[in-house]
Amino acid sequence: MLVTVLGANGPTGRLLSKQLVYAGHTVRALTRHLDAGGLAGLGITVIGGDATNEKDLRRVLRGAEAVVSVLGTPYSKQPISLYSESARAITRVLADGPRRLVVTSSAALSSWQDPGMSWAERHVLLRILARLGRTLYDDMRRMEDIVTAADLDWTIMRPLGLANMDSPTVYAIAEDHIGGKQTARRDLAAAIVEQVTRTDYIGKTAAVATTNRSVSIPLTIWREGIKPNLKRS
Ligand SMILES: NC(=O)c1ccc[n+]([C@@H]2O[C@H](COP(=O)([O-])OP(=O)(O)OC[C@H]3O[C@@H](n4cnc5c(N)ncnc54)[C@H](OP(=O)(O)O)[C@@H]3O)[C@@H](O)[C@H]2O)c1
Repeated sequence: MLVTVLGANGPTGRLLSKQLVYAGHTVRALTRHLDAGGLAGLGITVIGGDATNEKDLRRVLRGAEAVVSVLGTPYSKQPISLYSESARAITRVLADGPRRLVVTSSAALSSWQDPGMSWAERHVLLRILARLGRTLYDDMRRMEDIVTAADLDWTIMRPLGLANMDSPTVYAIAEDHIGGKQTARRDLAAAIVEQVTRTDYIGKTAAVATTNRSVSIPLTIWREGIKPNLKRS
């Protein structure tokens, strides 16, 4: 299949683009940084553009049979609009394009509490997510509303906190909620690759967790939530 990847230049996006190629798909990637490299060598067609811009999206979606998005942005105290703006533009463009859309949200939007988490882990996690992630999760919620209202074959992926983990990892997928501590980026990518051809999660939210390893939750929050902001400031 010809699959368009949005957010292809991010850490999950690169893994996802490669895994799609290994799975036999033809990949077209949208990136704001054509010079960031690494993807074109794999036979992936890399197109420069912004995922909130309908004109750019039309170019990268021409002829595609499925669209997968791992678009993301770091936590910020400022309002975030990437998720909702891109969802609005993508769903408009897909009205004349492929029906299959897989977008990435977060398990932080779920109200379900993992009984496997200690009180301290849950307390730290909820405090930090509420402080650091409020504007981001607000916008992810808007994205989910836009996607679920669209007349498309959509699936919303909800990973736990992402972490870079070496092979071999094992993951589980379940509707709406899943227990666990993290999702390895390679597992989120693999789960999305599966969704391109699977139909059982169409119109559903798919929670994904890595089941055979984990990193400490405070360390994940530091690496994924706090450090990227320090780098930017
Ligand atoms: N980090 C976590 O713990 C966590 C937890 C749950 C869910 N998620 C979600 O999982 C997904 C993957 O996260 P990640 O940490 O691997 O990736 P990421 O660092 O969030 O990178 C996302 C990519 O999106 C691209 N992007 C942002 N705005 C764009 C725009 N307007 N047009 C085109 N591209 C744009 C960025 O491109 P540039 O290179 O141009 O900036 C970047 O390559 C994201 O959807 C994220 O929100 C993350």
